[in-house]
Amino acid sequence: MRISVIGAGYVGLVTGACLAELGHHVLCTDNDKSKIDTLDRGKLPIFEPGLDRVVEKNRKQGRLSFSADPARAATEGEAIFICVGTPPLPTGDADLSSIDRVAQMIATEAKSDKLVVEKSTVPAQTGQQLKRVLEIYGRGSGARFRVASNPEFLREGTAVSDFLHPDRIVIGVSDEVAEKQLHEIYRPVLEQKFHCPVHDGACPPSPPPAWLVTTINSAELIKHASNSFLALKISYANMVADLAEKLGANIEEVMHGVGLDPRIGAHFFRPGLGFGGFCLPKDLQAFVRLAERNGVDFAMLREAERINHQRIAGFVEKLRHSLWVLKGKQIAMLGLAFKANTDDIRFAPSIELIKRLQAEGVRLSAYDPQAMEKIREQFPDLNCATDAYEAARGADALLIVTEWEEFRKLDWARIHKDMARPLVMDGRNLLSAEAMKALGFEYHSIGRPDLPVRGETKVLA
Ligand code: UGA
Repeated sequence: MRISVIGAGYVGLVTGACLAELGHHVLCTDNDKSKIDTLDRGKLPIFEPGLDRVVEKNRKQGRLSFSADPARAATEGEAIFICVGTPPLPTGDADLSSIDRVAQMIATEAKSDKLVVEKSTVPAQTGQQLKRVLEIYGRGSGARFRVASNPEFLREGTAVSDFLHPDRIVIGVSDEVAEKQLHEIYRPVLEQKFHCPVHDGACPPSPPPAWLVTTINSAELIKHASNSFLALKISYANMVADLAEKLGANIEEVMHGVGLDPRIGAHFFRPGLGFGGFCLPKDLQAFVRLAERNGVDFAMLREAERINHQRIAGFVEKLRHSLWVLKGKQIAMLGLAFKANTDDIRFAPSIELIKRLQAEGVRLSAYDPQAMEKIREQFPDLNCATDAYEAARGADALLIVTEWEEFRKLDWARIHKDMARPLVMDGRNLLSAEAMKALGFEYHSIGRPDLPVRGETKVLA
């Protein structure tokens, strides 16, 4: 099928490249010309594991192309996936102006019937508005517009794999024609008949995804309700972690035990510095606002948000407890991306942490395997190290902020030697408390009992 994707960000680029991988002919457009130039030069504007290979292969084979002219998307595609951003407004509501603009453009440019698919995360009832805009601005075009919602459940860092091996494909439609078209688009995934680029063709056997057909309103609601529930789970784990710390229990044992109940499930129970990224925080806010505007007080979600905000303040207080005075201290920060395997720093816990520590007058030295360029844009004065060892040299404390696998494998004995004070605050429970203690570190993590270091006098809270 000829498919257009409007918006070549994390979602659009992964969607476009993977649809091409499934055999469709895909045109990806973005009105940011520099992004399209980068793609045309064979480079990616983002870091997403495996995506470079999929883009490169499909570009070479002629199934994937890019354009800075979104009007081409409207004329060339039989199906048009809208993947533009829906950032938060100051009120917390999702800003839908890009969706509106794209809908008007499609309506005025299209010359034949189109299936318009919303992939961007939008509040329920956006599909209805989208249909109205298409009909009103497209009157007289002779084209008929079908609208569908097809929310994405891609996680940054594993997005290619998530697209090709999803646990569910949700489509919200209002007629059978749209359902059939979307079924045709996803048939290779449903039948698992494609050469998987992630596992080089040899995918581990996995059950086929659930194919869920709903109304458009329900599909939109499924997306917001899913992300908000994930946010709730994380905040819950973080509260239990705080309690475990006070009671001398180990959060990892506790959440493992809790998660063994299949009604609860084991995933998304990792405590830490809270959830960040461009999805969970903004979707939670938008969902709360959607509920409010419809007379539903979703207070439990506001509480999940409050708990999340509190994580960084709590972490800074723990650091103060260990260091006593923060002002003038040299602190190493390992990890800036909002999670491992991405270069994305949008709403990352690191941002708030940097701001707070800078306000306290500490001297920071930061390092991340992928996010250095992006953090420099946001904090031009931040002292950026070339690697973890440089960041740690002479530091009074080292903070682990993102759970990059490469941090686990560092030569921690060398870091111990190089630090002015061998204090590690592990905000992601990445390292083993026993191993760090054996190396002589003063080591604190989240919700796990502190092990006293040889000769240490326990300072009572
Ligand atoms: C999230 C959802 O997981 C995807 O299903 C969804 O498609 C996507 O948002 C979206 O709406 O586009 P993503 O933002 O890539 O995906 O990241 P997650 O893996 O969900 O992590 C979000 C944040 O929660 C990260 O900061 C992560 O460190 C944190 N987290 C996650 C925890 O603190 N604990 C956990 O147990 C899991």
